Amino acid sequence: MKVIHISDLHFPTEVPLFSLRWKMFTGYFNYFLRRRKRYPGKLYQSLINVIQSINYDLLIISGDITNVSHEVEFKKARELLDPLLNEKAFMIPGNHDRYMKSAIQPVDYFQKYFGEFLGENIKEDKYLKVKSTKEIPVIGWDSNFPSGIGNAAGRVDEKVIADTISYLKENGISKYLLVCHHPLWNPIGFEESKHHKMLNREDVIRNLKDTPPLIYFHGHKHSNFYKKPDTAIPFTIINSASSTMVPGGRHKTGFHTIDISPEKLIVKRYAYNDMTFVETDTIEY
Ligand SMILES: [Fe+2]
Repeated sequence: MKVIHISDLHFPTEVPLFSLRWKMFTGYFNYFLRRRKRYPGKLYQSLINVIQSINYDLLIISGDITNVSHEVEFKKARELLDPLLNEKAFMIPGNHDRYMKSAIQPVDYFQKYFGEFLGENIKEDKYLKVKSTKEIPVIGWDSNFPSGIGNAAGRVDEKVIADTISYLKENGISKYLLVCHHPLWNPIGFEESKHHKMLNREDVIRNLKDTPPLIYFHGHKHSNFYKKPDTAIPFTIINSASSTMVPGGRHKTGFHTIDISPEKLIVKRYAYNDMTFVETDTIEY
């Protein structure tokens, strides 16, 4: 089974200024305009082209397709991603897709524009989704909540963790993939503050220890890595953020492909270079 993982696409969509409210206003200027040149159109077009040239079974998109959760951004992202949105796609939201309450109520824009690609509900009353594939099921969590200016922290509801474990046990599933926007671990030098990290990451890791996923896929922190299992965290972790950002400085950006066989995982990383994506070194821990 071949999986492609991309994340934090943050498409640089222009939003009518008069329609910006509160946090969106500062977010639009601080984040979007300041970083716009690092998200050029030719890069995401190249990403879409290279993915279309690969013969894969599952495409995981782990959140942050927008910047400030404006409906115009969701509409544009749906158009841009259209060539990749088929039965192989699996998406979850990121904190930028849940930027303000207005992105969720009265209409959940992520659900409205990407509902077909989020998997089936395991629970009706909370975000816990599963997509069956011909080999390994993939589970999606939503670690995001609307919060104040400058706050990008996440949390996974403890009932979601418990319901995930019950679902796996009830269905006799021992091998699965898990996708969630926030990291459970950071390399030295890439630590996150309490305003950016998943606040209950230790609880999540502890609860997953007896039924670990084969791979935990995430984004949020814009520098790729591949972490192998160890005794503290007994599962592989892959971060593919940000797949549409020009690499540079501390930002090792790009995306991963993962070939999964019963014996092993083969993880490859691709980075943008000279108008296209080329295979490059994985950043392993
Ligand atoms: Fe994020």
